[in-house]
Amino acid sequence: MSIPTPIIWKNGQLTILNQHKLPNEIDYAALETIEDVYESIVTLKVRGAPAIGITAAYGLAIASRKYKEQNIASFHLRLHEDYLYLAGSRPTAVNLFWALDRMMGKIENVESVNEAIYLLEAEAISIHQEDEASCKRIGRNALEALANVKKIMTICNAGTIATAKYGTALAPFHLGAEQGREFEVYACETRPVFQGSRLTVWELQQSGVDVTLITDSMAAHTIHAKGIEAIIVGADRIAANGDTANKIGTLNLAILAKQFGIAFYVAAPSTTFDLTIESGAEIPIEERKEEEITTFAGRRIAPEGTKVFNPAFDMSPSELITAIITEKGIIYKQDFNNISSLIGKAGEE
Ligand code: MRU
Repeated sequence: MSIPTPIIWKNGQLTILNQHKLPNEIDYAALETIEDVYESIVTLKVRGAPAIGITAAYGLAIASRKYKEQNIASFHLRLHEDYLYLAGSRPTAVNLFWALDRMMGKIENVESVNEAIYLLEAEAISIHQEDEASCKRIGRNALEALANVKKIMTICNAGTIATAKYGTALAPFHLGAEQGREFEVYACETRPVFQGSRLTVWELQQSGVDVTLITDSMAAHTIHAKGIEAIIVGADRIAANGDTANKIGTLNLAILAKQFGIAFYVAAPSTTFDLTIESGAEIPIEERKEEEITTFAGRRIAPEGTKVFNPAFDMSPSELITAIITEKGIIYKQDFNNISSLIGKAGEE
């Protein structure tokens, strides 16, 4: 796998692979302030649930240094404001809130500013490193689930650049390529901002995976015409009953999988589960600006004044999901009533 490292923390400096510029340019952006971090998340320079969480964690570490000269009470107060600011960047991917909460929890009872600053950096690094290990385990588990699958479809980009490394839904393809497993991957372009064509196709090509691009509206025909055997997608938030929010268009694929009688897998780390909500009805779905639909490459493709609905995610109900592949193991549909105890055991594989 020769994909540029998506998030780099070196000597206390944060640099991210600017996903706007892909696939044409490998461009890194230095994020020096919490405002830089917020902007990069909102504008999708960094995107994908785990990557957002990691970047936000580093954002809090960066912000904490501003308060070096403050007393501890004021430090906690200011950092809480920064926490709320970053938490307001995007609403759907729960990894963002998970990472920010974990960071704040680490310093809750700390009474020295220097110690808090030190702990925040260390915690962000741990979150980053744990995600890489977690994605690798997801990839291994997914290879097991896909043992008899060759032709497979995916949507959006749940790959290396959406995580610390390897990705979730794309991890089996990257790891599989290293082991000589030959998948034929069909990637939906993923309207409106083309994470599929710009990012997934590019990523899989870097790993030497056989990948074919289709538009989102070609999915049904392609499943039939090309004999697709399974679908695998990532997730932004999974409720306690297994309902899963992911990139807009995922629900279409879940329904198609049922119609065509093929498996529909969700691949995600335990950090993407939100066990505080019982069902997907409680997942907030982000709506983004209308220009993502009304313009293309800076030109209008809809009349001025067009009414627009632009949800970035949809929710696939658990009954359409064959299994959720996590770093802790594969949770099949029959165990979805037990997700809280299977996932809730922190630190266990
Ligand atoms: O809007 P995005 O590009 O951040 O949406 C990303 C997705 O929906 C991914 O599939 C999901 O976050 C999983 S990334 C491993």
